Amino acid sequence: MTDQVLRWHVYADARELLAEAEAVVNRSATESMARRGRFDIVLAGGSTPRGLYERLAVAGAGDKGWHIWFGDERCLGANDPDRNETMARQAWLDQSGIPAEQIHGIPPTRDTEAAAAAYSALLVGLGDFDLVLLGIGEDGHTASLFPGDETGQTGVSTDAFAVLDAPKPPPQRVSLSADRLSRSRQVVVLATGRGKSDAITRWRRGDDLPIGGITPRAGVDVFADREAVPGSGTEACA
Ligand code: 6PG
Repeated sequence: MTDQVLRWHVYADARELLAEAEAVVNRSATESMARRGRFDIVLAGGSTPRGLYERLAVAGAGDKGWHIWFGDERCLGANDPDRNETMARQAWLDQSGIPAEQIHGIPPTRDTEAAAAAYSALLVGLGDFDLVLLGIGEDGHTASLFPGDETGQTGVSTDAFAVLDAPKPPPQRVSLSADRLSRSRQVVVLATGRGKSDAITRWRRGDDLPIGGITPRAGVDVFADREAVPGSGTEACA
C-alpha cells in the first residue's frame, strides 16, 4: 500500500476555504489548458463542494476546454435532486460555458452494475485527471467508498464500480475506485464544520479509513475549516 502524503490547510471559516478552493480550480484549469489544451476535473457531492460550485458559477468559470467527471453518484433517476450531477448542474454547470457533451455524468440508471461498467468504459484511455475534488463524510467515507467496504485501492480492475449497500442513502451508488481517484495531478479534500472533526481526527492519527486510500503521487491537499480540525489555528498544520 502506498503511503499517503497529506498537506493540511486550515482556514478560519468556510468562506475563506472556498475562496482558496476556487483559486485552486482556476489555477489548475489555467495550467492544464496551457499544457495540453483541456482540463479534466472530478467533482464531489456534498454540501461543502456545493458552496464551491456556487462560487464558480458566480465567477463564470468553465469553458470549452473543460471536461467534468464525477467521483461518485447515487443511482437514482435522471435529474433526481439527490444525484450529485443534478446538484452540480443546478449550482454551476448549467450556467457555465462547458459544452453539454463534456459533462460526463455517471449514467442515471438504477442498474448500478451497468452504470459502473459504462462509466469505466468512458474512462478507458483518459489518462490522469488534472484535479480531483473530494468531500469527507462523518464516518470517513469519500466519494462512495465507505468504511469496511471495497474501496478499489488494489486489484480492482475497473475504474468505477458498483456499491450496492452504502450505509448513507441511497444504498445503490457508483464510485470511482481509490486507485482511479488517485490518478490525478492534484487532489483536494474539502471539509467544513464540527461534524467532520471526528473523521478528521481519526484520519490524522492514521486510522484505516477509505479517505486514507487516496494516494496520488503529488499528495493530497486537505482544505478544512477550524471547526473541522479541533484545536487548530489559521496556519497550515502538520
Ligand atoms: C456523496 C458524496 C460524499 C460527500 C461527503 C461529504 O455522494 O455522498 O460524494 O462523498 O462528498 O459525504 O458531504 P458533505 O459535505 O455534505 O458532508
